[in-house]
Amino acid sequence: MSVEALPSPVRTGFPAGFVWGAATAAYQIEGAAAEDGRTPSIWDTFSRTPGKVRNGDTGDIAADHYHRYREDVALMASLGLGAYRFSLAWPRIVPGGRGPVNEAGLDFYDRLVDELLAAGIAPVATLYHWDLPQELEDGGGWTNRDTAYRFAEYARVAAERLGDRIGTWTTLNEPWCSAFLGYGNGIHAPGRTSPADALTAHHHLLLAHGLGTAALRSALPPAAQVSLTLNLAAVRPLSQDAADLDAARRIDGLANRIFLDPVFHGRYPADVLADTAEVTDWSFVRDGDLAEISRPIDSLGINYYTPTVVAADDPERPAVRQDGHAGDISPWPADRGVRFLPAEGSRTAMGWPVDADGLYELLTRLRDDLPGLPLLVTENGAAYEDYSDPSGAVRDPERIAYLHGHLGAVRRAIGDGAPVKGYFLWSLLDNFEWAFGYSKRFGIVHVDFASQRRTPKESARWYAEVIRTGDLPA
Ligand code: FCB
Repeated sequence: MSVEALPSPVRTGFPAGFVWGAATAAYQIEGAAAEDGRTPSIWDTFSRTPGKVRNGDTGDIAADHYHRYREDVALMASLGLGAYRFSLAWPRIVPGGRGPVNEAGLDFYDRLVDELLAAGIAPVATLYHWDLPQELEDGGGWTNRDTAYRFAEYARVAAERLGDRIGTWTTLNEPWCSAFLGYGNGIHAPGRTSPADALTAHHHLLLAHGLGTAALRSALPPAAQVSLTLNLAAVRPLSQDAADLDAARRIDGLANRIFLDPVFHGRYPADVLADTAEVTDWSFVRDGDLAEISRPIDSLGINYYTPTVVAADDPERPAVRQDGHAGDISPWPADRGVRFLPAEGSRTAMGWPVDADGLYELLTRLRDDLPGLPLLVTENGAAYEDYSDPSGAVRDPERIAYLHGHLGAVRRAIGDGAPVKGYFLWSLLDNFEWAFGYSKRFGIVHVDFASQRRTPKESARWYAEVIRTGDLPA
């Protein structure tokens, strides 16, 4: 066979139809905190509580997206984005969490969705990205079962108004963080520090997901897609010693199977129930809850930043919890006997080790554990110390390297049979990074918060080129 007759090189790019997106969340970018009838969420209260958020930053103005959404959609279009993942603010739509609907709040999302569609960008909406109406927290928040029912009502209202134009809906973003950082170690709103509350909140969040899924299905056209986004952990034992393997089993339970088993198999894992027995008897789980929670969904969203390396406690070594989460208290209920160690490699500005293999491990594990279920990477990206140089340019080669590595991992997972349908880069814009305030920049577009000027970073141009070619540069 002559060289000419050899088949053309194997296509190394992403599959046709692969969805290229970027992600944001309401409280992190919108601002307009008190406009058009929005009432405070737990993050408004928390960010006003001294000592909770770095520099006393709040989301009052954030990236002012509420007023600048047209400019932001134009930016997205200029990058060639096919989809945009954003969240709806519950306290805009149902202020106070229950009762009358605020049409002015819905109107904002109406305008945003129409702008996206006019630009040829598919809207992907998340109903809950952590901004629980404060009134509901005052009534117990996610530790109160009633909150799950209020969520379902809100889901129905949003779907009835926007369901004719939004094709993909996500109930919750990272319920692990809502429960374990919000109610367990208190580093996130509402700032409670009770392992029992964390597990109660966890169950009620899943119940909200199930009830919300039912509400969405009843209000949406049959072709609409319903999803859930989890920050599953790529858990690695430090060694193959039995004690390290058991630490990995325990954390895999508390990070992964505590979600995957109820949502996809209608049961909580027996070992997680046993591991947490010292914290709670799980009597908050009522008959019928697991059937509700395991209603079929159309895809699973995965947010991934860094792997989780664990080892057994060792009397010779100091206890460490370098799990990427700030705070002195562990968010992991009943993690006694587990050390969390950093993976090797360079670190982002969050101090999170850069390790793209973790994303590959997660995607191929889900390929095996949930055969046939479409997967979306709904968040992935990195914070670095970006600044705009005297010429006005923002050069972020480390972010480009991070994205290149992780998109390479996604491509490799797809090549090995993982049904990954899309990738949403976190984040479109620099924004309010929760307890870190504006000190951490995750955007591919730089935001000067004083002037609200947007400047695409080099990584934005790089990503636009990946989207255009459907492949990574050599
Ligand atoms: C995720 C959150 C997102 C953002 C990134 C960095 O846990 O979903 O809002 O803060 O981390």
